[in-house]
Amino acid sequence: MPGGPLRGEIRVPGDKSISHRSIMLGALAVGETKVTGLLEGEDVLATAAAMRAMGAQVERIGAGAWSVHGVGVGALLQPAMPLDMGNSGTSTRLLMGLVSTHAIETRFFGDASLSGRPMGRVIDPLSQMGAAFEASEGGRLPLTVRGANPAVPIEYRLPVASAQVKSAVLLAGLNTPGITTVIEPAPTRDHSERMLRGFGAELTVEELNGERVIRVRGEAELQPQVIEVPGDPSSAAFFMVAALIVPGSELLIRNVGLNPTRAGLVHVLRQMGGSIEELNAREVGGEPVADLLVKHSALQGIDVDPAVAPSMIDEFPVLFVAAALAQGTTRTSGLDELRVKESDRLSAMAAALTTAGARVQEVEDGLIIEGSGGEPLRGSANARVKTHLDHRIAMAMAVAGLASRDGIEVDDTRPIATSFPVFEALLDGATA
Ligand code: S3P
Repeated sequence: MPGGPLRGEIRVPGDKSISHRSIMLGALAVGETKVTGLLEGEDVLATAAAMRAMGAQVERIGAGAWSVHGVGVGALLQPAMPLDMGNSGTSTRLLMGLVSTHAIETRFFGDASLSGRPMGRVIDPLSQMGAAFEASEGGRLPLTVRGANPAVPIEYRLPVASAQVKSAVLLAGLNTPGITTVIEPAPTRDHSERMLRGFGAELTVEELNGERVIRVRGEAELQPQVIEVPGDPSSAAFFMVAALIVPGSELLIRNVGLNPTRAGLVHVLRQMGGSIEELNAREVGGEPVADLLVKHSALQGIDVDPAVAPSMIDEFPVLFVAAALAQGTTRTSGLDELRVKESDRLSAMAAALTTAGARVQEVEDGLIIEGSGGEPLRGSANARVKTHLDHRIAMAMAVAGLASRDGIEVDDTRPIATSFPVFEALLDGATA
């Protein structure tokens, strides 16, 4: 697996967060929503199947081109079968919000990774709105939601920085009389807010004492939209780091979404000395997008400001790989949320990088990594890295493999298809 430099150009597939929301909101608008650039990964396909099971017509017309005929807010049908959420936390939590304020009963289940993840964080506010839940031990899947209709509007301050929890409450608020309010102490990705407004919902965002106060008026009527999904910065991240750490690389990554609530990794890598140029800055689907020209760079270890964590929450696995190749020490903190992602990403990455010969110390809320100063890692000739059903661990370690002597073997590459089905093909093309 150790590879040559990454050269030429690639185009990253559509943003996962925006793809999920395109289908969900399209399914709630009356009329036809047309989507291009949709990410056709397993997670988004789980959302599409769920919306079909609740009455929407969701069709693939061509590569990344989809048509959604919605049923209208308040008109979702009770699914005839339990909804299979696969590996997808976003599908589960956002759909729990949606069904919570419809007079239907919905059962959700998922794979072993998803069944270990906490759902109490959405059950709490949605119960306050009147929904009833029967969950497995510890507030986990499989679980059943009995929706409330009419539901009760609430004002909810997020106890954790989570766009999924915020979105679940806002989506529940769409079919709730009056105004539903979410208060965000730390800003998280704002795709739900942007898209709800785009679909015609009455939604306001106000900064108050350093917090974001988001209000949505319920009993909304959504208008169908034409949506072009921008490229996923969380997918581009793997190629950004690969090009930075493999000597001789110069890679143009086209179509990268750079919404400020998602762009933390670009800033942190630049702080480490990474050469990343933004070209052809433009807007796609109401989101800032650019092409990124990334050149191999001598990276320096840094202390990563915990305040940037929400804007790069999915990018830490691959940032840890960059840190393992940097000169000096990188310290991260404030990353407790990484322990409840598709895997415990702090312990999974500490173990994976250690197996590959990097020097890593795991602390309660972060990793401390002593970089190799650009020397290739040893690799994992005799030991396979464990990916724990986590696509981002698999892709991060594939990137680490490019900067290793013996290559790195991961135990399972299948989860990559949940978010980035063309990852391996793009990587082969760029390193050819
Ligand atoms: C997402 C929110 C984040 C992120 C996930 C996608 C979303 O999760 O990790 O991949 O689309 O809202 P949290 O809300 O749990 O931080």
